[in-house]
Amino acid sequence: MSIRNLDDLLGEGVSGRRVLVRADLNVPLDKQSGEITDDGRIRAVLPTLSALVQAGAKVVVCSHLGRPKGAPDPQFSLRPVAGRLGELLGAPVRFAEDTVGDSARSTVEGLADGQVALLENLRFNKGETSKDDAERGAFADQLAAFGDAYVDDAFGAVHRKHASVHDVPARLPHVAGRLVLREVEVLGKLTGDPERPYVVVLGGSKVSDKLAVIEALLPKVDRLLIGGGMCFTFLKAQGHEVGTSLLEKEMVETCGNLLERSGGKIMLPVDVVVADAFAPDAAHDVVPADGIPSHRLGLDIGPETVAGFAAALSQARTIFWNGPMGVFEMAAFANGTRGVAEAITKADAFSVVGGGDSAAAVRALGLDESSFGHISTGGGASLEYLEGKTLPGIAALEN
Ligand code: 3PG
Ligand code: MG
Repeated sequence: MSIRNLDDLLGEGVSGRRVLVRADLNVPLDKQSGEITDDGRIRAVLPTLSALVQAGAKVVVCSHLGRPKGAPDPQFSLRPVAGRLGELLGAPVRFAEDTVGDSARSTVEGLADGQVALLENLRFNKGETSKDDAERGAFADQLAAFGDAYVDDAFGAVHRKHASVHDVPARLPHVAGRLVLREVEVLGKLTGDPERPYVVVLGGSKVSDKLAVIEALLPKVDRLLIGGGMCFTFLKAQGHEVGTSLLEKEMVETCGNLLERSGGKIMLPVDVVVADAFAPDAAHDVVPADGIPSHRLGLDIGPETVAGFAAALSQARTIFWNGPMGVFEMAAFANGTRGVAEAITKADAFSVVGGGDSAAAVRALGLDESSFGHISTGGGASLEYLEGKTLPGIAALEN
């Protein structure tokens, strides 16, 4: 597998050339104010963009934001992202009001060497996510017309067979950006020969989303710690009542099978924080995992569980963490996620945080990002990488 990277492109010289960069600027926005609540993904693409700016390229950046349905939808506009990107780059970013229309064309044509433009949301166009090769291809033709070369730095989207990820690289000389290169290097260490013990912590709300990765990881890891909303389906499989906690009934049997086959590698919570309601000010208590009252719901792992998870993590030499342990956005239910995150930073291990939510949790809880080995910008992408799946965006760069 040979992927050319940004240095190869810079080596050829990009001064005065138009370079189309696919970034993942899908950042969380505040529902009320529309403000960016976590700019981690914008920061993550700066090394690539700065290098291109310094080399005198005309940089055309494209991205998706949220999941609009193939037509313009103002709540998903990338305009606020253009503003923030300009602040971080220290030079204004020209914003195109459409993706491949008149505004985009004149914006790209007007770029001077070393200037950056951002196109409007790729998903305002049906062709971006279309399952139809011809429809995707037609949109990819329009995008490719804006570049003399293509850089994929959208690690968070490499698992999507979308026009900007999968079809544009077939039409232009293409390389991996700095972020994609680093992500693939780091995740490759985990799938290759990780130093042991290798401990994985999984959280988040749904088992069904994580099933494939659990199956793929079980033979490779020494310990698999499970928290977050998905732990209740496992607790149910162990025969415990889970009250009104999140439960995927149709997954209970599968979880039971996984527990049986796991050879004791799976660690589940022994206590949980239960509340009267899903609300920041709900009355709450710590109860044993086998004593969840029928009218209450679990919103975090309990302190004894945190201590047990921390003990397992303190032994680890390699750690991968994906998914919060509880509803960390509410202070009353943030201790589990905080405790596990702190235990990861203290361990003498190479640690990787995977996923938008866990990465956002690290920053929202005010933890020092540099105390983790690597914070991945990809949620679904990092999980699919660890599953060993072929990622359309990476495969396209290999050709
Ligand atoms: C993400 O947030 O996981 C990536 O930006 C991909 O977004 P998507 O799941 O909407 O394709
Ligand atoms: Mg996602």
